[in-house]
Amino acid sequence: MTGRIPDEKVNEIRQSVDIVDVISDYVQLKKQGRNYFGLCPFHGESTPSFSVSPDKQIFHCFGCGAGGNVLSFLMDIEGSSFTEALKSVADRSGIAVDVSFPTDAADQESPEQKSIFEAHELLSKFYHHLLVNTKEGQDALDYLQNRGFTLDTIKEFNIGWSVPSWDFTVKFLKKRGFSLDEMEEAGLVIRKEDGSYFDRFRSRIMFPIWDEKGRIIAFSGRSLNDETPKYLNSPETKVFNKSQILYNFHRARPAIKKSRQVILFEGFADVISAYAANVHTGLATMGTSLTDQHIQSIKRMAETVVLAFDGDNAGIQAAYRSAKMLTDKGMSVRIAEIPDRLDPDDYIRKYGGERFSESVIGAAVTFMAFKLSYFKIGKNLQNEGDQLKYIEEILREISHLQSPVERDLYLKQLSEEFEISYEALKQQQTAMYFSERKRDPSQFVSKKVAQLPLEKKNKLLPAYINAERYLIAYMLKNEDVTYKVKDLLSGESFNIDEHQAIFTYLLAYYEEGNLPSASSFLSFISDDKLRRLVSEIEMLTIQTEMNPVELTDYVHSVIKQQKMLTIREKEAEKKEAEKHKDYIKAAEIAMDIIKLNKELSLY
Ligand code: CTP
Ligand code: MN
Repeated sequence: MTGRIPDEKVNEIRQSVDIVDVISDYVQLKKQGRNYFGLCPFHGESTPSFSVSPDKQIFHCFGCGAGGNVLSFLMDIEGSSFTEALKSVADRSGIAVDVSFPTDAADQESPEQKSIFEAHELLSKFYHHLLVNTKEGQDALDYLQNRGFTLDTIKEFNIGWSVPSWDFTVKFLKKRGFSLDEMEEAGLVIRKEDGSYFDRFRSRIMFPIWDEKGRIIAFSGRSLNDETPKYLNSPETKVFNKSQILYNFHRARPAIKKSRQVILFEGFADVISAYAANVHTGLATMGTSLTDQHIQSIKRMAETVVLAFDGDNAGIQAAYRSAKMLTDKGMSVRIAEIPDRLDPDDYIRKYGGERFSESVIGAAVTFMAFKLSYFKIGKNLQNEGDQLKYIEEILREISHLQSPVERDLYLKQLSEEFEISYEALKQQQTAMYFSERKRDPSQFVSKKVAQLPLEKKNKLLPAYINAERYLIAYMLKNEDVTYKVKDLLSGESFNIDEHQAIFTYLLAYYEEGNLPSASSFLSFISDDKLRRLVSEIEMLTIQTEMNPVELTDYVHSVIKQQKMLTIREKEAEKKEAEKHKDYIKAAEIAMDIIKLNKELSLY
């Protein structure tokens, strides 16, 4: 959504250019029928599957799923923010944008925030100068260069040195007119009881920390000797929220968007090393564990996270926790195992970035494969009790796997490793599945298909998925159709979660009084994945007129699928009940099934 920028202004700017012209600056486009085609700039390909529609003013890649309007194109390709993309389009069309141009709520800086950003910016420059150009910083510079940081890297990451004085920063800030009160709130200086101030960071290597817009909002200072703490961070402030900030986010964003993958490190030193070695998609939390907010930010740009944590015990535990959180949030996770208990920075220093990419990141294992070794920790597998416990833990994990092929793979591995028959393992795992499902059904796949099988897009889709896609395509063109579908669904929802989400967005979009327009709707959706899906659906060619019979048929096919899935679930429940000789329950369920079948026959 567009925050404070008035929608009319956004629309005016967006409509002032032709998407074909803008994209032509980046991609060689060729006209074919109504649309233009070219090689997708977001993934490597040799046959053009990237298409641009001048009628709809949107783009979509049938290869990688990228898609959106002219603003999302610029955001994706330049790695810029919404406001930046908007400004660049405005500039292009010569639409005057004055300095007080109302921007995103988040873009609007209060005077206090402004002075915090300014202080950090100025200080970081000065710390950097001290490190690189002065005698005072020589030891620190030697240390950094000894550990493999080149001057280029030191410059790129604006690394600096804070002198061993109690009031260097205090004086520096005072001289430039900053309020020391505010600077205390910014975490740069500390107030003593007598009301005077002293520097928080003294004789430390200073690493600036940026927010997602590339503004410096905090520092982390590393001690040169073995002084504790090794890293001293700015405290939480109005602009520095550790549960939100990911180190290197602004710099890595374009590379992440392009590869749809993030490499998550434990320390920012690892991020810097990796970046210098040409691995540009690295991020790190600021010494805290991963939070839901971090995951939200990552999820907007990528589908996969590779965890490259330290090989020590703490690192392994953290990797397990993070992998679990990420998986729960629907992200695909792999875990890179770094040999010899090295941290990624050590590894890269020793073997270089190429080998890191290939042998560590490239060889990252699935979460399940990681669990196979994780659950061995602290057990003596020669001991029968420990062995049984391990097998049970792994069988439980296998029960949670949705893919039968994967379940089979790990059952076989287990069978081989412990010389237990595959059948026995399979039997126990199935029993576990049913008993757990009864206890906590939410842990297992719900009746909704979690994700649209994008890889299947070129094959024939099941009728109900097609129906849902066509309905969305029609609703994007027509407000009345949207309300009609809402009525017809009478409380039922789409089978595909993403379709339901788009439908909800669409209702909100029309309720705000917006007119049908694919391109303008795309600006309204904040989720990248949904945007891609909308652009894909938009590219379905459909007749402009909607025939009411067709509409009803489509909706009925959606409802039918919902009911059929419910019936299938009930049938499984009934079988379970019969197996446990609970005939009363089985009979109750049978009644439900009859009722559902009756309802089904109405459609
Ligand atoms: N950290 C911290 N405070 C500490 C130690 C660590 O905030 N006292 C955070 C820092 O953000 C650091 C991360 O935890 O980046 C990882 O710590 P660690 O593995 O100890 O540091 P390294 O990244 O290995 O740093 P170095 O190679 O400089 O020792
Ligand atoms: Mn290290």
